[in-house]
Amino acid sequence: MTSCIIRASNTILSHAEITTIPGDKSISHRAIIIGSLAENTSQFSRFLMAEDCLNTLKIFQSLGVPITIDTETQTVTIDGVGLHGLKKPEATLDAGNSGTGIRLITGVLAGQTFDTTITGDHSIQKRPMKRIIDPLSTMGAEITGNNLEGKQDTYPPLTIHGKQKLNPLTYTLPVASAQVKSALLFASLYADEDTKIVEPKVSRNHTEVMLTAYGAAFRKEQDTLICSGKKPLINPQSAPHIIPADFSSAAFFIVLGLLLPQTRWTLTHIGTNPTRTSLAKILKSMNANLQINEQSQTNIEPYGTVTVSTSELHNSAVPENEIPFLIDEIPILAVAALFGTGELRVTKAKELRVKESDRIASIVHIITAMGGTITEYEDGFTLPGIQGKIKPFHVKSNGDHRIAMSAIIAAIAGNVEAVIDDVDCINTSFPNFFTILSTLGINVELRKTA
Ligand code: S3P
Repeated sequence: MTSCIIRASNTILSHAEITTIPGDKSISHRAIIIGSLAENTSQFSRFLMAEDCLNTLKIFQSLGVPITIDTETQTVTIDGVGLHGLKKPEATLDAGNSGTGIRLITGVLAGQTFDTTITGDHSIQKRPMKRIIDPLSTMGAEITGNNLEGKQDTYPPLTIHGKQKLNPLTYTLPVASAQVKSALLFASLYADEDTKIVEPKVSRNHTEVMLTAYGAAFRKEQDTLICSGKKPLINPQSAPHIIPADFSSAAFFIVLGLLLPQTRWTLTHIGTNPTRTSLAKILKSMNANLQINEQSQTNIEPYGTVTVSTSELHNSAVPENEIPFLIDEIPILAVAALFGTGELRVTKAKELRVKESDRIASIVHIITAMGGTITEYEDGFTLPGIQGKIKPFHVKSNGDHRIAMSAIIAAIAGNVEAVIDDVDCINTSFPNFFTILSTLGINVELRKTA
């Protein structure tokens, strides 16, 4: 295990351009999946070379898809095998720490003619899978998993029994989950007739964007996504698709730039898909000096430049309909709120309980350790700002990358000494997090512990 030790008083660059926020995690997973199921070759540059997406890549290699990586240009080349070209893997598939990986890939595996087993690390083995197993079973898939003592759900390892064909499904999503929606969209490619997925609350739409670009038999009518396997997937361009930088990773430096004194930072090439950028909207409503300039609409996904400068934040309640669009940014939003005045109120965010850690409990743990007063609810919390008057602290990440990075940003912004245990998990999404800190003049100590 590695701990991160932060000492107060860094000399931090007041003006900087941050150009190396890594590629979007959600889009990188989908690039591998859709590229593998396409009839032709696809290239994606700025692919996220982090553990989560590399595990998805390895899974498709073991399903027989030729995929090569150029680490220098961060480009992956995928020789798609078509919807029906995957081969039975020799061993159990390992999704590592990635809930997105295991859920989306299970959707694909449900439509194969061979049996597979997929699992992941000990955190994945505690992530609920009934949310995909139930609708996939209605489509005719046969999936068995683990039942944990005293728990109502089903957990990995999952064994997916091969079927000739799936049935179309009509289904209303009970939770706003892009992972569930995407698992069902991928499975729908293995049914001849239209599957209809009703989405009462919209979540991130990268699967829909990419299926459309690849010419799938996919369309959206009001709140209903309609998809079938009637058309093959074909990469429309020979040049590499450029994966934008991950807004959820940029979020840590966006917030740090707002909180540090006399600072103005620009972050380049940041994904600006509106289903991902609600944090910017909420921060602006809290008086943040933050601008997004749209630079490209021609790429598979939009990207732009984000500029932030020192701000005095005034907290308020996060509107319920924005929650799915900033679900991964709530830990860093809580840190931002601690530096503001007024009260941050987050509700209808029960999904946070089933992320890489119980994120409501993890947020309470770190905020309390910093000297904040937080009131916990089953579906959220309220948190009064203390204008950054935080105290030295020692916390655990609970194996959750976004909790680890949020705590580190808080210590730097508050200029306090801090120890954050178990920061190896940052590699799942943001392998160059510490490198960017160091180029900004922020030096932290990483210490291996038992
Ligand atoms: C993701 C969807 C979100 C998000 C996760 C990535 C995706 O999960 O929290 O980090 O790529 O589809 P849910 O859709 O389950 O909320």
